[in-house]
Amino acid sequence: MSPRTATALAHPNIALVKYWGKRDAALNLPAVPSLSLTLDGFATTTTVRWGAAADRLVLGGVERGAAELRKVSRVLDLVWGGPGRPAAEVTSENNFPTAAGLASSSSAFAALALAAAAAADQPLDRARLSVIARQGSGSACRSLWGGFVEWRMGERADGNDSHGLPVAPADHWDLRLVVAVVSADKKAVGSTDGMTRTALTCPLFPGFVSSAPADVDQARAAVLARDLHALGAAMERSTNKMHATMIATEPTVRYWKPVSVAVLDAVEAMRASGLACYSTMDAGPNVKVLCAAADAERVAETLRGVPGLLRVEALAPGGDARLVG
Ligand code: PMV
Repeated sequence: MSPRTATALAHPNIALVKYWGKRDAALNLPAVPSLSLTLDGFATTTTVRWGAAADRLVLGGVERGAAELRKVSRVLDLVWGGPGRPAAEVTSENNFPTAAGLASSSSAFAALALAAAAAADQPLDRARLSVIARQGSGSACRSLWGGFVEWRMGERADGNDSHGLPVAPADHWDLRLVVAVVSADKKAVGSTDGMTRTALTCPLFPGFVSSAPADVDQARAAVLARDLHALGAAMERSTNKMHATMIATEPTVRYWKPVSVAVLDAVEAMRASGLACYSTMDAGPNVKVLCAAADAERVAETLRGVPGLLRVEALAPGGDARLVG
């Protein structure tokens, strides 16, 4: 077979209503529905070349080992969809920190699924690519689309109805997510380990699961109505419940650092002074702050005054994952 190559670019997404917990760990089927915003500015660019001697993953110029390669090979198997799959070489670059709570796995597996399918001439629709990307990393199923994206849990045991669904495109609403980078280090507890531990040991977890659909309903309605207060309230409720379950896990899964809390305090103070901004955190110490585009510079400037932050950046809603070569 002659080598066939394609390159795709995908943006990471940040959950406004969180996914935490799996109802099927092998297939990455979620215990809860979730809703996200895809971000412009941050991106993963991935090239897949079918016809290598063996599967390889080179991420950020560094050859990766068996654990990371296994997930990539699984996505390649699913894209190829049958026997006789050739090996592939995967080369990937992030223009932002990897595995530090900035959702690098979401853009990574979305770009991988899209590039692999194009290079293999597989005419897979976006919902199918989303199902495949989900099996690399759950949140990746939302990064096939830009703007606001919902991930419904689905009902089927094979997971083929558990994929992203676009709610509104990037240009629907001129919001910003101001990203406050507390640390660019790789997280100590990966999301899969953290979720498994939470589901097994946290007595609060059933409450997180049973209350999540109402948060998604509120967030979806707020997006469609462009109601920042209602969206911010659903987002903060979801993030606080998720982190409460993480903290009450044994052993605890605590991603917050003192600087993270200082940013949360600064957001509360800005809101008390009349500035509409709302915070969220994921599986890492970084804080993301949602606000109107017109307020983003004021929010970013205030956060730049919080001692200890590495970087503050306002990101606009991003577009669909796309082929770039
Ligand atoms: O897709 P994963 O396995 O990296 O898990 C993502 C988990 C959170 O970022 C904390 C929440 C979410 O919905 O993205």
